[in-house]
Amino acid sequence: LLNERKIAVIGFGSIGRTFVRLLTEKSHYIKKLAELRVVAVADSKGMVLKPSGFSDYELIKLCELPRSGLRSLPESLDLDIDLLYSKVQPDIHVELTPANYETGEPGLSNIVNAINNHAHVVTANKAPLALRFSELMDLARKNEVKIGFRSTVMGGTPLIDMLLSIRSYSVESIHGILNATTNFMLTEMHEKLIPMEEALRRAQAIGIAERDPRLDLDGWDSAAKIVILSNVLRREIKLQNVIREPLKVELSDIAECLRNNNVIKYVGALELDGKAYVKPMKLSRRDPLAGVDGTLNAVRIGTTIGEITLVGKGGGRVETAHNVLDDVIGVML
Ligand SMILES: NC(=O)c1ccc[n+]([C@@H]2O[C@H](COP(=O)([O-])OP(=O)(O)OC[C@H]3O[C@@H](n4cnc5c(N)ncnc54)[C@H](OP(=O)(O)O)[C@@H]3O)[C@@H](O)[C@H]2O)c1
Repeated sequence: LLNERKIAVIGFGSIGRTFVRLLTEKSHYIKKLAELRVVAVADSKGMVLKPSGFSDYELIKLCELPRSGLRSLPESLDLDIDLLYSKVQPDIHVELTPANYETGEPGLSNIVNAINNHAHVVTANKAPLALRFSELMDLARKNEVKIGFRSTVMGGTPLIDMLLSIRSYSVESIHGILNATTNFMLTEMHEKLIPMEEALRRAQAIGIAERDPRLDLDGWDSAAKIVILSNVLRREIKLQNVIREPLKVELSDIAECLRNNNVIKYVGALELDGKAYVKPMKLSRRDPLAGVDGTLNAVRIGTTIGEITLVGKGGGRVETAHNVLDDVIGVML
């Protein structure tokens, strides 16, 4: 088929499954654009391949398996990305594995491998981009493939697309609330005067916290997003150059803020001189970021033309899956 595109979905957890379900729900619409076939699905324990593509029914059945469940299927194979590529030759590689900010793995090798096999890449995993943005973009250019990553920063709000659309502006600074977990925690602390540990438990209870709390609380997640935004603006910075001050707020700090009409927010920032940091900041109530509460995200972008503030959802499960699908559609059009 002229317009056929084969997809491999690597990482089949929360986002992977939501994305695959979304594909089946939108299959009618997608058919108008191209014949999209999921030919491979992989989790940490195994993979299933089908060169002709899984039917919508088969995909839904896969989504119903327990976590790490692909290996339980009789036709499953040990996870082996080289074998996957040689058997089903995907055109689009969708990388939805967990973020590891030390090594970037497994996402980094998977993405490099995909590009070397001339597959377009769509990733919600921030770590490979935060660690190797320019190398990956150069490699993609050389191999004439695209990398879609709009889900990596403020997924529910098209921030990256907006930044790419104002190329004639000079962006002088970005200050943002980029992590839903810590913003939710701080909001709870200000509104209910509960200690930080309790606020974290509440964030975990509603399922927004990263499995490893350090990713949220030590600023890794926000720092990775700042690195990606900086690179989108063609200013190369490295994750290790983002100064991270962990979030550590006592109730006495909150009480002092309340007395002075301030709010503590966990802010990720990029400044004109190249300084990049993530740290808790006391903001005046008049600051547009001060009223951004709960799981909402926001960025204040200072430009030579004026200030732009975007407020909206970060990347929940459903938002992220939609972003991934939009990137898939974007790379194949
Ligand atoms: N959740 C969100 O709202 C959100 C928003 C934006 C971006 N993201 C990013 O999207 C990615 C996926 O998030 P998630 O919430 O779906 O995570 P998740 O539920 O933990 O799922 C991760 C999946 O990756 C699989 N995996 C782990 N190591 C692997 C390996 N070596 N090879 C192949 N698969 C492997 C896991 O396998 P098992 O099933 O066997 O454990 C699991 O299926 C992460 O990088 C995350 O930071 C998430």
